[in-house]
Amino acid sequence: MDAALETEIKRLTSLGLHQRCVEGDLARVAGLTLEINRLKKEKNAVICAHVYQTPDIILGIGDLVGDSYKLADDCRRTDADIIVFCGVHFMAETAKILNPSKKVLVPSKNAGCSLSEAVTAADVRKLKAEHPGLPVVTYINTSAEVKAESDCIVTSANAAKILKRMYAEHERLIFIPDRFMGANLARELGKKPGEDMILWNGSCVVHEKFDPALIEVYRKRYPGLVALAHAECPSELIKAVDFMGGTGDMMRYVESTNASAYLLVTECGFGELAKLRFPGKNFIAMCRLCPYMKSITLGSVLAMLQSPSPEEVTVPADIAARAKKAIDKMFELAA
Ligand code: 13P
Ligand code: SF4
Repeated sequence: MDAALETEIKRLTSLGLHQRCVEGDLARVAGLTLEINRLKKEKNAVICAHVYQTPDIILGIGDLVGDSYKLADDCRRTDADIIVFCGVHFMAETAKILNPSKKVLVPSKNAGCSLSEAVTAADVRKLKAEHPGLPVVTYINTSAEVKAESDCIVTSANAAKILKRMYAEHERLIFIPDRFMGANLARELGKKPGEDMILWNGSCVVHEKFDPALIEVYRKRYPGLVALAHAECPSELIKAVDFMGGTGDMMRYVESTNASAYLLVTECGFGELAKLRFPGKNFIAMCRLCPYMKSITLGSVLAMLQSPSPEEVTVPADIAARAKKAIDKMFELAA
């Protein structure tokens, strides 16, 4: 076997990736990561990987890894010429808005998001006309056009903090597009969903379908279990768990506590990564796959880096300038 391939197999094994490969598959994975990492250097590219990606992407080729907030923040400081976004399109669009001179690539045409697709710029203009004077607080899981109509962007990592600051100045506000996350946050802040917070009818196809009744079943089966859920889950489920947050908060919670077992109610990639990061802890899988996140593979990343003219993420300058204002407001209020 080629010496470089052998070294790469050893590197991936030290990261624990052999545990998720079937017999003989690690060599195939190593061949892909080796070539991607070589091309990355040659082209001065950086790979952003969201925690819902598969561990072979996150650990094998990822340079900047984290939740949507961390990725947006980190990619402001990269000096790479190319940002390859292993995540979904709205995340790559945000990276492009923050780095207009860089080439931003998404290695899949199918990396959308049900939340992002739930609301258009025309919808937001209509909402603003119906509720004149109310600020529009928008989840980052939206298109650049929708961000351009917004006053401030939030992610799951900073939404509670930013909303609290917005409510200090406004009695009511508009929150789009996730009706579940909005209602969860409104309740956390002692506000009435639908009254103090005008909501939109969007939802995440992954998180909306978890069954709250199962939490109790798991608690009986695993005494001492701590249940964590992403803020995009419906309120009935949030009421049944011990902790609600974004993926970054959930990872920090696991890191800083010592429960007998953790139930992670979110996309499956998160649990896979948590198992590899904390091999001494017990994780119970209650996860669902995001078809958009999972449309990216090592093969699609390699094909994109090898393409003579890969399709770039573009945002019209006027939209980008208005969207950037709302994104910058998030960085200011989250600080
Ligand atoms: P995080 O910012 O918490 O990683 O969430 C992004 C997302 O798409 C959750 O479904
Ligand atoms: Fe969008 Fe849900 Fe997938 Fe996150 S998990 S990218 S919110 S569809």
